[in-house]
Amino acid sequence: MMPIFCRPATQFALAMGFVVGFATAAAAQSSAEPVERPVSFSSEQADRGKVKYIKECVDCHGENLKGGLSGGAPLRGLAFEQKFFDGLPASIIFAYMVSTMPPDSPGRYSPNTYANLMAYILKRNGFKAGAPLPSDFDALDYLIMEK
Ligand code: HEC
Repeated sequence: MMPIFCRPATQFALAMGFVVGFATAAAAQSSAEPVERPVSFSSEQADRGKVKYIKECVDCHGENLKGGLSGGAPLRGLAFEQKFFDGLPASIIFAYMVSTMPPDSPGRYSPNTYANLMAYILKRNGFKAGAPLPSDFDALDYLIMEK
């Protein structure tokens, strides 16, 4: 007789444990969900990025970021903004730079160095300094390219 009474109770307890566990996991997940916010960078990142830019990018992209002697695309202006700003996630331009720049050896710098370069480009495009720019894609996905 016992097992007949016991089994539903055990199943009920297991089911409740499952439901409670599931709800707890779901709540933990939603509270950890990052929130989208406007992109920002620190002044220090932009300063370091400038040094690197002058060394590695200026020949092609120019001192004023409007394009250089060696034929790089402008990194300021309407076409650039439409391609990479307009509320897009910051991960898009970051991924573009890591995977294509500099053209002779894409991806050769550390993620931090790419973040510094991006900080300098943001600064020259009129973005305001604030919290540092992260250098990992998951975090960059939640930063929106808007001033
Ligand atoms: C040898 C020349 C050269 C060098 C050096 C170079 N670039 Fe470029 N870059 C280009 C060219 C050419 C394009 C356009 C590529 C295309 O549209 O397919 C470009 C495109 C870009 C773009 C996207 C612009 C757009 O509107 O599509 C960014 C951002 C960029 N470069 C950043 C950098 C950074 C940062 C560095 C320095 C680490 C760098 N580049 C070094 C030639 C160069």
